[in-house]
Order: sequence, then C-alpha cells, then structure tokens
Amino acid sequence: MTARKRPQDLRSHRWLGVADLRAFGHRSRLQQMGYDRADFAGKPVIGILNTWSEINACHGHLRERAADVKRGVLEAGGFPIELPAMSLAEPFVKPSTMLYRNFLAMEAEELLRSHPIDGAVLMGGCDKTTPGLIMGAISMGIPAIYVPAGPMLRGNWRGELLGSGSDAWKYWTEKRAGNITEDDWNEIEGGIARSFGTCMVMGTAATMMAIAEALGLALPGASSIPAVDSNHPRMAAAAGRRIVDMVWEDMTPDRILTPSAFDNAIKVHMAMGGSTNAIIHVVAMARRAGIALDMERFDKLSREVPVLANVRPSGKYLMEDFYYAGGLRGLMAGLKDKLDLSCLTVTGKTVGENIAGAKIHIPDVIHTLADPIYAEGATAVLKGNLAPRGCVMKPAAADPRFLKHRGKAIAFEDYNHMMREIERDDLEVTPDHVLVLKNAGPKGGPGMPEWGMLPIPKRLLSSNVRDMVRISDARMSGTSYGACILHVAPESFVGGPLAFVQTGDEIEIDVDRRRIHLAVGEEELNRRRAAWTPPAPRYARGYGAMFSEHIGQADEGCDFDFLQGTARTAEPEIH
Ligand code: FES
Repeated sequence: MTARKRPQDLRSHRWLGVADLRAFGHRSRLQQMGYDRADFAGKPVIGILNTWSEINACHGHLRERAADVKRGVLEAGGFPIELPAMSLAEPFVKPSTMLYRNFLAMEAEELLRSHPIDGAVLMGGCDKTTPGLIMGAISMGIPAIYVPAGPMLRGNWRGELLGSGSDAWKYWTEKRAGNITEDDWNEIEGGIARSFGTCMVMGTAATMMAIAEALGLALPGASSIPAVDSNHPRMAAAAGRRIVDMVWEDMTPDRILTPSAFDNAIKVHMAMGGSTNAIIHVVAMARRAGIALDMERFDKLSREVPVLANVRPSGKYLMEDFYYAGGLRGLMAGLKDKLDLSCLTVTGKTVGENIAGAKIHIPDVIHTLADPIYAEGATAVLKGNLAPRGCVMKPAAADPRFLKHRGKAIAFEDYNHMMREIERDDLEVTPDHVLVLKNAGPKGGPGMPEWGMLPIPKRLLSSNVRDMVRISDARMSGTSYGACILHVAPESFVGGPLAFVQTGDEIEIDVDRRRIHLAVGEEELNRRRAAWTPPAPRYARGYGAMFSEHIGQADEGCDFDFLQGTARTAEPEIH
C-alpha cells in the first residue's frame, strides 16, 4: 500500500507551491485567468487531454463531457485544466490516422510533462486516439484515467439497422453490382451516422475502448455507454472525481499495467471479436509499459477464448444493443473463468470486484462460454515464407471455405494500380484467385492505411461473389470483413517477401495450421530479390521523414524506435 501523498509531494507543487520568482509568475498567470489562489493551492492539478475537434463527429460531445469531468474534479477537490490534443478524426485525416498515432502519443506525453499536471484524464475513442493517449500516458507515468467517447446510436435505413463502415462497404458493393439506386445510396448516407460518438460496430474504436477498460484504465462499464446516453456525462464526472483520489493514492499506470492485465485485455478482445488493428496497438502499449508482448500471445489466447459478442462485423447486433445486453461488465462476467480477477484497476479495486454482480441481460447479444458465437477467438496469426514475422486474419469474419485455400495470385504494385485493375471488365479473375496488394505497410503506405479489404473485382460482382482471399501489408478497418490477410511483416516497401509476389504465383493459406506459403522456389525468390530496387523514401522532410526513419514494423506495434522502452525522462527544470 502506497502512502497518500501530501500537497507538497504533488508534482505541480514545483510550479505553484514554492516561494520563488517563477512560482510567483505561474500563480499570477492563473490569477490572470480569474482563479483565486485557493482554487489551486495544494490541490492536484488534473490535465484533461481532450481530442475534441470540429471535424471529429466521433468526439463531437467531448467539449461538453470535458465540462462534466471538470465538475467531478472540482467536487473531489482538484483543479482541472483542459489541454487540447490532436483529434485524429478517422474519416478525414489522410493519408491515414495511423501516420499520426505516435504523433498524438508524443503530444500527450509532452503536454503532461511540460505542464504542472499531477494526474491525467484521457478523452478519446475514435480509433487511434485511444492507443495514442494511453501510450503517451504510460510513458509519462503519472496517474491517468481514460474516458471513452462511447459509440454513436444505431444507424437506420427504412427500418433496417445500419452499422458504421460495415454497411457502407456492403451497400457500396450492392451499388457497384447495380442492386440499389443512387437515391437509396443517398438515403443510407443520411441514416448511417445518427448521433455523436464512435463507430457503433465492433470496429477499432469499440475494440480499443473495451481494451482500455479491460486493462483497468477506465471506470467499470464506461466503454459501452452510448455517447449520447445520460449515463455518459455521469461516467465522465465520476472519472473526474476518481482521478483526484488516484493522484493522492499515486495510482500510476505501472501499478495497473501488468502482463496479466494485458492478457485480460487480449482475452476480452478475442471475446468481443475485436478489430485486427488492436494487435498493433496493444503490442505498442505493452512495450511502452516494459512488457515484451508479441503477436504469438494473441494467437495463443485466441485459441483459448471464443467469440461471445454477437456484434457486427462478425455478428448481428450493434454496440447500442451490447450496452443494453449488459455491456463490457456483462461480457467480462461471462468470461470471468478465463480472466485474472486480481488485477488492479483505476478504481483502486480489482477486476473481480469491478464486475461483481454484473449480468448478461440479452443472451443473443452477449453469449456465454458454453454457447459461443464462434468457437475460437477473433484473430489468427499466420506465418510462412510470405510473412516471416507474421500476418493476421480474422477468421470469424471470413467465408469459411477460405480458411484452407490455394489459389493463383493477382499482384498489384500499389493502391492506384489495384483500383485501375479491379474495375476492368476484362480482368482475368476467378473467385479462387488471391488478390495481393503491395506497398501499403507502415513505410510504404505510408502510415499503413486501411486498404486491406481490397474491393471484389467488378467482373465477379454480378456473379454474386462477395468474399475472396486478399493479402497485403496494410491494415483493415475494424468495420471491414472478409478473408483478408493483413499486416504482412516485414512489409514489401522494405523488401519483405510480399514485394516479390508476381501474378500467377500460387499462394496457400491454412488457418488451422497458421500457415501462409508462397509456392515459389527459393532460387527463383532469390533471383527476384536480387533484381528488386528499393523504392525512394516517401518524404524528403518534416514529420513524414521522421516517421519513415523511426517507425517499426507491424509485429513490433509500429511505435517509433526512440519512444519505446521504460527509460526515465527527467522532470523539466524550472528556471
Ligand atoms: Fe471515429 Fe470510426 S470514424 S470511430
């Protein structure tokens, strides 16, 4: 048990509590903003890192929620300071938000370090914001609590449920096949996103919010509350109250983020049928915490934990239904025999205490271990000569006939090449072909965009083909589905074997055996490797050049090399 801090032990005391010229300046500037000395003297200063922006509808409510957090902080005797951080709106940021996840992680860490902050409230939810904020907070190491933005309401089109992303892909394919009209498509556009909040399928946002809660970094049940539900502002205020006590208790992330906490999070990810993107983010977060997690751990736990959440794209319902069915507490209660219930969380209590009494209210939405949706977990990690350091697949979201498959490759050199070919009426393609996209990885994309669900070639759409094996070094949106093999490492841009695939080569997939194989002899591969010229770097200057120089591969979590590890960064000198 750590002793409670005293006011003079607070980090902010160096800025605000001492009797020197600099502290005079700090205090006078706070008074300039209308605060009395009594408002902050001897109180924990809580930095609210808010990823609100006017172009991020997933976080459109976070300005109001920051006010709720502040209410909670004040009630508990803290002093709240809101600090805006990069918003990373998934639909708008190009070429990919993944290019900027580490940027946000650096920003979060340095915002906290450079200011007189004792504890942090991390406000995010749209895909990369959750890992970005958490990675930064882990490296900073002060007490931090995560406030998930929460999912938006269910989409609706003429009484039919619409899921973010998933139904956009689905109806876009139907439109390309000529099965729905332009007017239908426009109506869907107006019905698919009906409120503020994150994507409401089990995409990367819902997955990462749940993972943050399962790690113990959010209040119990917080990640499932729809963004516009009145429980959401109440949760935000409760987080504000709690972070003040976390500061006094010195409840730092390293006390919460143990190997068992990460195992719990991975198991929850599997039971949720979560997004493949989570693998990259969880590996990156764990390594920031000094835990040498790798993709094999996902594969191992995937074989032990079935999918329980019947939520799209692997299942039928949406996150709003998941909340009514009992939310993450309900799911974790159903999974409790497989979890380490002794892990500590931001509440100061254990996972077991947090989920005590939780129930599943709608059994078709949240299944039990005795009656899973899919017998094995969400994610398979394959290896072989085409992906020596691994690649990932979501078997539950694929046509089962592709889980063991051998087919001829059609290779695309980059995204634009692929899009030209895919629309050709004379493309030589059958449903058994394997579509291969190169140069879409961390350096090649750049930023590893979500291009991994390659479109079905136009020529096959009219014969109702809706799934094929697709292989790339890209990621895919958590809202996507199909027999897509992703994150091939090393990527083609740096000379990974994917770079040497040619149209007509045969590729074998065997998910049961976790194998991916390019049926081309070693001699021929060596000949192609020798003839290969590395492409020119994507950026000559700026952040992009730094990104290209320091980004790790997918199996390493795509963190920057200089941000990894747990080496201590000194507190700033105050002069
Ligand atoms: Fe923000 Fe999907 S676009 S969560």
